[in-house]
Amino acid sequence: MFKHFETDVLHGIHGDNAFGALAAPIFQTSTFVFDNAEQGGERFGGRDDGFMYTRLGNPTLRLLEQKIAALENAEECVVFSSGMGAISGTLLTLLSCGDHIVADPVLYGCTYALMSHTFPRFGIQVDFVNCSDTQAVLAAIKPNTKAIYFETPANPSMKIVDIAGLSAAVHKAQSDCLVMVDNTFATPYLTRPLDLGADLVLHSATKYINGHGDVVAGMAVGKHAIMGEIRGVGLKDITGSVLSPHDAFLILRGLKTLKYRMDAHCQNAQKVAEYLFQHEKVQQVYYPGLPSHPGHDIAKKQMQQFGGVISFDVKGGFESAKSLINNLHVCVLAVSLGDAETLIQHPASMTHSAYSKEEREAAGFSDGLVRLSVGLENAQDIIDDLEKGFSKV
Ligand SMILES: Cc1ncc(COP(=O)(O)O)c(C=O)c1O
Repeated sequence: MFKHFETDVLHGIHGDNAFGALAAPIFQTSTFVFDNAEQGGERFGGRDDGFMYTRLGNPTLRLLEQKIAALENAEECVVFSSGMGAISGTLLTLLSCGDHIVADPVLYGCTYALMSHTFPRFGIQVDFVNCSDTQAVLAAIKPNTKAIYFETPANPSMKIVDIAGLSAAVHKAQSDCLVMVDNTFATPYLTRPLDLGADLVLHSATKYINGHGDVVAGMAVGKHAIMGEIRGVGLKDITGSVLSPHDAFLILRGLKTLKYRMDAHCQNAQKVAEYLFQHEKVQQVYYPGLPSHPGHDIAKKQMQQFGGVISFDVKGGFESAKSLINNLHVCVLAVSLGDAETLIQHPASMTHSAYSKEEREAAGFSDGLVRLSVGLENAQDIIDDLEKGFSKV
């Protein structure tokens, strides 16, 4: 690898290809031909590492996995056909009936639904504990606690968790307890959780990593032994959540500009957050780049920049927020984030509708909260659009 992220995404790792293609070849095939029966048997027996069937591996997917592993400074990456595929495939590989995990209460809505509604059906216990409070996490750890799980910055409240501090404390208390970080909002360009002591990283690659709003994909990243289990059980048998080679190609293409896109997302988000912060119709802004954010100092330590997502409460609650959202044109009313276009949505009724009102309150985000994924437009055009929207509130 080279010294700089923008060089690493372009050089260093190229897939095998007979013709020297610079762009990644798309191996759009479900199966691979064996030279003879013995070779097929050797491959299925794990004694020959050639390809067999795309759910078990594919050269275009492998190239993407190698690139992401290198960018996260990890031994191995496994790609999935969605972020939820990666999250459920990973957790269901590593957890069994009777196990316990500690998770932060601020999570993407479907991750929260998986943990709060589905895991109890399988006898997996989850305690939702504020992961910014190390002592509270340590107090919640039991002999059967297999993992600590959190997002940073977290969706939707942009809460920051101290990855290095928490990982060290958890490993000291229980060395085999895995620290898992959903790094979707930061990407490996802004934060590398494994370098900070975490054990496993998850991504919705649907967001910034692909960056163009045209693919749904996920990733799990970590050590060979665990990734081998996740690939062989969580991907192959439990979820079958295999990424298509064409989508892997699109992500490889998006990855080439990740640094430049993230720089622009972060710079625009800082300007928009400062505009919202001084706005008379805004109650509160949640953006780690603002000194008023409780996680600002930790974010400064563990992030290169502060990310592209901002959440905020409009004075007057949901009714006022609706008037704003319904009167915007540059900011597009749609869920997801990390796309080139600015996207705005209402977590309580959309991405986080799996939370009850009480659960949202316990997690610390209001029913009126608005989430803005700041895009690559000119920042002033985004601000002007918001200003026109606020004039209708
Ligand atoms: C932080 C985070 N993790 C995971 C996911 C799930 O990813 P996907 O939609 O690719 O399944 C999302 C989706 O919004 C997310 O925001």
